[in-house]
Amino acid sequence: MATGIKANVKTYDLFIDGKWQPSAKGKTYEVIDPSTEEVIAHVPDATAEDVDRAAKAARQAFESGSWASMTAQGRGRILFRLAEKIRSEMPKLAELESRNGGKPIVEAEFDINDVATCFEYYGGLATKIQGHVNPVPDNALSLSLREPVGVAGQIIPWNYPLLMAAWKLAPALAAGCTCVLKPAEQTPLTALEIANWFEEVDLPPGVVNIVTGFGESAGAPIVNHPEINKIAFTGSASVGKIILRAAAENIKRVTLELGGKSPNIFFADADFENAIDGALFGVFINQGEVCSAGSRILVEKKIYSKFVDAMVEKAKRIKLGPPLDRDTKMGPLVSKEQYDRVLQYQEIGKKEAKVGAGGGRAKAFGKGYYVEPTIFYDVDNSARIAREEIFGPVAAVIPFDSEADALRIANDSPYGLAAAVWSRDIFKTMRMVKALRAGIVWVNHMQPTYVEAPWGGYKQSGFGRELGPWGLEEYLETKQVHINLNEQPIGWY
Ligand code: NAI
Ligand code: MG
Repeated sequence: MATGIKANVKTYDLFIDGKWQPSAKGKTYEVIDPSTEEVIAHVPDATAEDVDRAAKAARQAFESGSWASMTAQGRGRILFRLAEKIRSEMPKLAELESRNGGKPIVEAEFDINDVATCFEYYGGLATKIQGHVNPVPDNALSLSLREPVGVAGQIIPWNYPLLMAAWKLAPALAAGCTCVLKPAEQTPLTALEIANWFEEVDLPPGVVNIVTGFGESAGAPIVNHPEINKIAFTGSASVGKIILRAAAENIKRVTLELGGKSPNIFFADADFENAIDGALFGVFINQGEVCSAGSRILVEKKIYSKFVDAMVEKAKRIKLGPPLDRDTKMGPLVSKEQYDRVLQYQEIGKKEAKVGAGGGRAKAFGKGYYVEPTIFYDVDNSARIAREEIFGPVAAVIPFDSEADALRIANDSPYGLAAAVWSRDIFKTMRMVKALRAGIVWVNHMQPTYVEAPWGGYKQSGFGRELGPWGLEEYLETKQVHINLNEQPIGWY
C-alpha cells in the first residue's frame, strides 16, 4: 500500500566535511521513481550558502595536505578500497540507480561495475603521475612537476548518475584534488549512498563533498565560487555555454561534455543482421538518454528500404517495462520534464518525416514516463530531429548515395561527440574514420566505452577528455622548476 511505501522514503542530508548536514535553509525536494511517479526520497535543496560551506571544506582539506600530500600509494589504496566496497554492494547500488533513473536493472548492473572499475583504474594511475627533466642548454636542472589543480567542482547529469560521478571523482582524487560534487537533481541517490563509506575507506573529511540541488541554485554557485579552481561538466550544450561564460570571471579551468547528434553510418556491404542490431542498440540503449546516442542513422540507398523495414520490425518487439524487471529492455524516461521534451520532438518528427515505429507515449502503462521506441525515416539532415539532441528513444534514419555523401551528411552537425561506421571494406572504412569530425569513432559497433580509452567531443560537443591518462591530465597543473647548478655569480648588473 502507498502508506507502506511512504514509510520507507528516506531523507538525506548534504555530505560536507565528512559529516551529514542539513542545508542552511533547511529546504528539501522530492526525488521521484519515474516508473511509478512516486516519491522515493527527500534530499536537500542546497543554495549558495551550502556550496560555500562545501567549497571551504574542500579548500581546507586541500590546503591541510591531508589529501594532496598523502603519498600517491596512500591515495591509490583508498581508491581501491572504495572500488572494492562499491563492487561488493553492486546489487544494492544497481537497484537504487535503476529505481531512481528508470534504467533497466541489467544496464544499471553494468554501470555500477564500471564505476568500481573506474576507481580501480585511477587508484592504479595515482602512482604513475610523473614529471620530466627538460633538456635545457644551460648548466642547470630543469624539471616539470605535476601538481593537482586544487578544488574541483563537478556537475553531473542524470543519465548515468554514479558512473558520471566516478568519471569525475576518480581522476580528480588520483591527482590529489578535492571535490565539490553536484549530482543531477533528478538522480542524487547513489552518489549520496557511496558517501556513507568514505570514512570506512579512510577518505579524509572534506576531500569529497556532495551538494544536492538544482542547476541555478546549487550548480551556478559552484561555477561562480572563487575557491573552486576547475569545473568539470557533463550535460546540455546550453548549460555548457552558461558555465563557460561564468568561468571567465576567475579564469577557472573548464572541461565540458555536451552530448551530440552522432551519426551511425551503414554501408551496403556491412553484415546485415549485426547492422540492424547495431542501429537499434546505438540509439535505444538507456532509453536513448545517452550523450553518444547514434540518433542519426545513415543508410546506403542500396539497402535502405530493407534496412528500415528490418529496424522497424525489431523495434516494435523491444520489451518496455518496469526497470527492476530483468526482462525489461527499455524503462521509462528519467523525469516528467524529459518525457514532455521527447513527446514534443515526436510531434515535430511527425511533421518532418515518415513514422516507421512508435511516435508517442507508450500506452500500455498507466503510470510512469514511458515512451515508444520511435523510428522516423526519410529524414532530411536539415530537419530539427536530425540537428537537435533529443535524448530519448527517437531515431532519425537518413538515406545516402555514396561515401562522399555519407561523409558530408555525417559531418554536417554542430556536434561532434561520436560516430560509427559499419562496413567490411577496410579502405572505405578507414577513409571515413580519418575524415569524421568526432571525438570517438566506432567501427562495426557503437557505444562500448572503456576507462582505458579517451572520451570527449569535437565542435559543440565540448572540449577536454575524460577517462584514461587524458582524464587525469585535466586535474593536473604543470610547474616548471629551474635549478641553477653554476656556483658563479649571475653577473648581469
Ligand atoms: P542540464 O544540462 O540542465 O543538467 C545537467 C546538470 O547541470 C545538472 O546537474 C543540472 O543541475 C546542472 N545545471 C543546470 N543548469 C545549471 C547552471 N545554470 N549552472 C550550473 N549547473 C547547472 O540538462 P537537463 O535540463 O537535465 O536536460 C536537457 C537536455 O540536456 C537533455 O535533453 C539532453 O539533450 C541534454 N543532456 C545531455 C547530457 C550529456 O550526457 N551530454 C546529460 C544530460 C542532459
Ligand atoms: Mg536543464
